[in-house]
Amino acid sequence: MTIAPAPSPVALLLMGRDALARSERGTVCPGDLPPASDPALVERARAAKAALGDRLFVLGHHYQRDEVIQFADVTGDSFRLAQEAAARPDAEFIVFCGVHFMAESADILTAPHQRVVLPDLAAGCSMADMAVLDQVEDCWDAFTEAGIAGGVVPLTYMNSSADIKAFTGRHGGAVCTSSNARRAMEWAFERGSQVLFLPDQHLGRNTAVRELGLSLEDCVVWNPRRPNGGLSAAQLRAAKVILWAGHCSVHGRFTLDCVTEVRARVPGVTVLVHPECRYEVVEAADLVGSTEFIIRTVREAAPGTAFAIGTELNLVNRLARDFPDKPVTYLDKTVCFCSTMNRIDLPHLVWSLESLVADNVVNEIVVDPATRRDARVALDRMLALADGPVTGD
Ligand code: 13P
Ligand code: SF4
Repeated sequence: MTIAPAPSPVALLLMGRDALARSERGTVCPGDLPPASDPALVERARAAKAALGDRLFVLGHHYQRDEVIQFADVTGDSFRLAQEAAARPDAEFIVFCGVHFMAESADILTAPHQRVVLPDLAAGCSMADMAVLDQVEDCWDAFTEAGIAGGVVPLTYMNSSADIKAFTGRHGGAVCTSSNARRAMEWAFERGSQVLFLPDQHLGRNTAVRELGLSLEDCVVWNPRRPNGGLSAAQLRAAKVILWAGHCSVHGRFTLDCVTEVRARVPGVTVLVHPECRYEVVEAADLVGSTEFIIRTVREAAPGTAFAIGTELNLVNRLARDFPDKPVTYLDKTVCFCSTMNRIDLPHLVWSLESLVADNVVNEIVVDPATRRDARVALDRMLALADGPVTGD
């Protein structure tokens, strides 16, 4: 008899059935979910929302599926959603259609009596998982040994776990998003001589080099899987920006070849990418900015403008559908959704809303008080410095 090998923790996690050690995300989804084939799902979601009325506020990130985003009271990029969560003190329940780190931030930014729900706990972010607190503490110890810790200001991208945000708050740093990374990095350099940028090396490099005018040589990459991050003390001392070796697996797919290929295929195309893309892709593109910036750019473009867009596919498909007079193509020929964003589907949304109607708060995201306090410092610094418009080229 052959015994099938046990599924790996990662496979279980992707099925929403287990936790991955050292992950910011997901465990079992305990729900008795309605079948995806139930034709009444849309009606059930509507009815549950109506029954909850003003007690409920639904936030939806731009990468969410159409079937889910239609129920969002507000849609936005991660910065806007953080602002919106902070601005809803009257909502008893915030249902976050996005990923785990966004729901954690919403919990930190709302009052203790407000309950934040993530419809599927396995909706995490592989980039956020690339920086784990004990790794970051080891990195900081190496900074201390190299004699630079006093001058380093940590900045963490919103796409990080609450305990990384708390670490950042404790060490005089701030959170940033793709729409305010430039302002956050300028702020950091007003306070220190070096920046540790977590966990997205591409956003960090793109911001440092393209927006602040630093050179590629000013940036080094700290690889947490190598002794001393793979860097000597002299390299650490010479760097201006120390980039954490994290990346987005969705935006990391776009290559220079994708840009060259689409320019040959679509004459006059405007290549529009998210700053989580690699440096060489962003350099080759025409425009770069957050998801809000991408949407605004397409909306405001003249009819007939052709776009090739390098960001998550749910958003690109929606832009193609909403602006039929502006031909929109996906930058990569191989299409790719963010698998964890896609975990929030209509059955999970209906289940979480109907549970709230039945006074059963499921999949609540609760950040412990000490982490919450320190992470709030870093989030508040971001909100204070970044109340302007979204950025982009
Ligand atoms: P923004 O929402 O800041 O554009 O970031 C995109 C993203 O990858 C969120 O996970
Ligand atoms: Fe994380 Fe990338 Fe998905 Fe955003 S698109 S949630 S950064 S894996």
